[in-house]
Amino acid sequence: MNLSKSLNGSVISSARRLIRKRTAQVRRDIHGIRTIGVLGALSSSRPLLVHIVPMRRCNLACTYCNEFDNFSDAVPLETMKLRIDKLAEFGTCSIGISGGEPLMHPELDELIAYIRERGIFVGLLTNGYLLTEKRIKRLNTAGLETLQISIDNVMPDDVSKKSLKVLDQKLVLLQRFAEFGVNINSVIGSGTAQPEDAVVVARRATELGFTTTVGIIHNGKGQLKPLDERNERIYRELNSIGRKNFGYLNGFEKNLVAGKSNDWNCRAGARYFYVDEDGLVHYCSQRRGFPAVPLDSYTTSDIEREYSTQKECASYCTVACVQRVSALDRWRRSPQTILPQPTVSPRLGRTTED
Ligand SMILES: C[S@@+](CC[C@H](N)C(=O)[O-])C[C@H]1O[C@@H](n2cnc3c(N)ncnc32)[C@H](O)[C@@H]1O
Ligand code: SF4
Ligand code: SF4
Repeated sequence: MNLSKSLNGSVISSARRLIRKRTAQVRRDIHGIRTIGVLGALSSSRPLLVHIVPMRRCNLACTYCNEFDNFSDAVPLETMKLRIDKLAEFGTCSIGISGGEPLMHPELDELIAYIRERGIFVGLLTNGYLLTEKRIKRLNTAGLETLQISIDNVMPDDVSKKSLKVLDQKLVLLQRFAEFGVNINSVIGSGTAQPEDAVVVARRATELGFTTTVGIIHNGKGQLKPLDERNERIYRELNSIGRKNFGYLNGFEKNLVAGKSNDWNCRAGARYFYVDEDGLVHYCSQRRGFPAVPLDSYTTSDIEREYSTQKECASYCTVACVQRVSALDRWRRSPQTILPQPTVSPRLGRTTED
């Protein structure tokens, strides 16, 4: 009798969880279509995606990464809120919380809730190490809409500890409890001992019902590090595993994997930009220093200028999120007429010609 009661109880709670997940998915899809698809498409001076960095510190030290340190304090919530207000004034459609490791920020939930309050679609990029059942439920309550984890290998090695061995248990928790979308990114060319692991990671992610993407490793300027034949083969295999990318973007990746350039208009500084921990606006995580203008003095005319400014780093760029965002404006056929200007970065003290 007790056994059947507890079995009934667990079936009911699984069914409830499933209904909550599906409802959250529908709500998320509607919010995404309304903000990014409709509002974003209407005006080219509206940022489609902004990455923010509330915590530069990281609990890991992947050797291919130049986006972390081991000492920075968390940016205070009140400072982050002012930045979100400014992004909301621009009509920003979506914000990705990056780092460093954002889960180390003590007020991350409040930050997520505030972004939602301002009507902006919110995603999180994390190495996943700090995820627990309780933490996932808190992210649900805060209103998180998507989460991405990049997993580099099956067993941790000298290059990366973002391994399936450590993270698989976190993925199972995400499958059970997350009411937000989960994407697993497999990075190729990172120099891990067993690059074929990227395929194992993608298969596992698909098995758990998550979406998957492929990231191609870049150097310190966002540029392609040529891939060898082994990695090219791995890419082809990854492509056969139920990935949900647009064909156009696959074309981008395919060219890069074959060592070929892409002809595209990078709309960084406009449709996409990166706000670092000091509140400075940069083209992207790999072009920090350009233009390095404080967000509170960034204006719509800055956005319009950058929209039309050619980026000399575009041909071999592997920064996929900016390519995705820029692709939404292909139909506008707005050529980039402004040549890149040598500007002195106040923070890094160098010019764009360095
Ligand atoms: C800098 S991390 C910050 C968030 C979090 N710590 C994480 O690892 O997801 C954001 C993303 O950048 C990717 N990344 C870091 N260095 C890279 C590189 N050299 N080439 C390609 N992707 C890189 C990571 O794999 C991760 O998906
Ligand atoms: S976990 Fe993320 S931020 Fe930390 S070192 Fe690795 S890629 Fe960089
Ligand atoms: S092309 Fe754009 S996204 Fe790529 S590195 Fe240059 S500024 Fe960054």
